[in-house]
Amino acid sequence: MPGQAVAHAGRTGDDRRVSDYRNIVILTGAGISAESGLATFRGADGLWEGRRVEDVATPGAFRRDPALVHHFYDARRARLAEVEPNAAHNALARLDAAWSGELLLVTQNVDDLHERAGSKRLLHMHGELKRGWCLACGERFAWEGPMGEGAVCPDCTTAGQVRPDIVWFGEMPYEMERIDQALSRADLFVSIGTSGAVYPAAGFVQTARYCGAHCLEMNLEPSQGSIFFHESLIGPAGQLVPAWVDALLATPTNPARCRDRGRGPRPSAN
Ligand code: APR
Repeated sequence: MPGQAVAHAGRTGDDRRVSDYRNIVILTGAGISAESGLATFRGADGLWEGRRVEDVATPGAFRRDPALVHHFYDARRARLAEVEPNAAHNALARLDAAWSGELLLVTQNVDDLHERAGSKRLLHMHGELKRGWCLACGERFAWEGPMGEGAVCPDCTTAGQVRPDIVWFGEMPYEMERIDQALSRADLFVSIGTSGAVYPAAGFVQTARYCGAHCLEMNLEPSQGSIFFHESLIGPAGQLVPAWVDALLATPTNPARCRDRGRGPRPSAN
């Protein structure tokens, strides 16, 4: 497998084999879309570089200056038409199609590259650029093209009350209950291309590990929560993820182990 592997020796306490895995939860962040040409949030040239989060990604920002907020998200929505899924998105879609056990792909990304690659068991915990939310009637709906301040709700036809269906700072991410349930049943938790700077996603590794999952991260650099993973693979997602998926799909699942697999939280091995 390409990239530098860092096994956290002495801290793993995890004796399971790849053939034991049945239920997988995968978390992705902006790093998986970087090789498609979408900017990440943090670091040099990141979306937050030179921009205050509070100015564009909070409910208060939208109340204060909706034009500025719409401009930021309209530009990002328009950019989606110029990019394509990369080898990492394609590999996860291949895994989704081939994996007979449970699988949930939880993305923090608001782009549509996972679904364009073909992933089906997918959940956008931070919302989607191509969806709108009407503050007048509460409906959420698909949205193409610019939104702008005067956007009209397709359900109640109110103008000027439509916002991007994006989870801003201070708001609750979507489907947390479903994510918690999947984490509690996971044998394998995989985090790809996320800095581990933003909760609750940054805490998923601790939940998964506590519930007994093997925890693997793939990132260009160790994430902020790197210490909680059994293994870290350091390198670009476009190389690491396809190689990891190939290896996983080449390993026959151990049916006896799958039948024995308990449900619900189990104490961590260490
Ligand atoms: N392959 C793998 N990892 C990469 C690549 C790549 N080609 N390029 C960058 N990365 C890594 C970076 O090293 C970094 O650790 O991806 C991570 C991206 O981190 P962030 O920019 O913080 O993005 P993310 O973790 O998704 O941010 C979480 O913060 O601002 C909010 O709501 C926003 O969903 C976002 C959340």
